[in-house]
Amino acid sequence: MGEQLQPFLEVKELKKSFGHIEALKGASLQAKCGEVLAIVGDNGAGKSTLIKTLSGVLTPDSGSIIVDGKEYGHLTPKLAGDNGISTVYQDLSLVNTQTVWENIFLGHEYRNFGWLNKKKMRREAAELLNNLNISIHNHEEIVGNLSGGQRQAIAVARAIHHGGKMIILDEPTAAMGLRETAATQQLIKNLAVQGYGVIIISHNIQQVFELSDRICVMRQGQVLALVDTKSVTSDDIVSMIVSGTSLNGAIQ
Ligand SMILES: Nc1ncnc2c1ncn2[C@@H]1O[C@H](COP(=O)(O)OP(=O)(O)OP(=O)(O)O)[C@@H](O)[C@H]1O
Ligand SMILES: [Mg+2]
Repeated sequence: MGEQLQPFLEVKELKKSFGHIEALKGASLQAKCGEVLAIVGDNGAGKSTLIKTLSGVLTPDSGSIIVDGKEYGHLTPKLAGDNGISTVYQDLSLVNTQTVWENIFLGHEYRNFGWLNKKKMRREAAELLNNLNISIHNHEEIVGNLSGGQRQAIAVARAIHHGGKMIILDEPTAAMGLRETAATQQLIKNLAVQGYGVIIISHNIQQVFELSDRICVMRQGQVLALVDTKSVTSDDIVSMIVSGTSLNGAIQ
């Protein structure tokens, strides 16, 4: 995996300030389909700001974002979505009082002459969840009754159903227990195997090593390193995060 893949997404020299705080100071990276890219960095390093520019929620002050060969100065949520970039937020934006399959089709319902085509949506939801190896037995269950991991999985399934190719998750397992975390990690691995790109922000270094093909270390608004996970140790990554030590020992 890795080198032979063309980047689906390229970020060049992104800058973003909030008043006098420079959240991004010229961050650059590439992300590919078929791989899991983990973004790590201390609190305030600029991770969430970076992915918000990718989902079109924030407009960078300068720099560019290249998606599938098309270059943009900034994205809007619609442009990001149309280009296959889909961010699954921590609050997941599911409707708790609706069923599993209704949530997957939220805002994109199938209709026949104005009537909801429930049969088709139920069938396609079942196919989609099955293809992604997401085991939720009762698709008529309202999502408010499901676990955090299952809800996350439904949000990911919805993102893919709506055309997501690069799925971005900001600390997806932060509020989860062990079993839920394991299920979410398995889902993330499956996504990459099936050819989707995944960008995951995580503070859990063990998880980063278990899941990712490459690691992007952010520090003080910049990308300090973008490395193959296999080529580094967790000590390397921790010292880069904490003290800005680069791989050859220099301090940045
Ligand atoms: N809307 C905002 N208004 C003002 N400052 C902001 C805003 N969003 C982020 N910042 C600041 O920008 C910097 C980067 O924040 P960001 O949320 O990107 O960090 P992060 O790497 O995601 O941190 P964490 O690990 O805590 O989630 C921080 O100093 C933060 O306080
Ligand atoms: Mg954050």
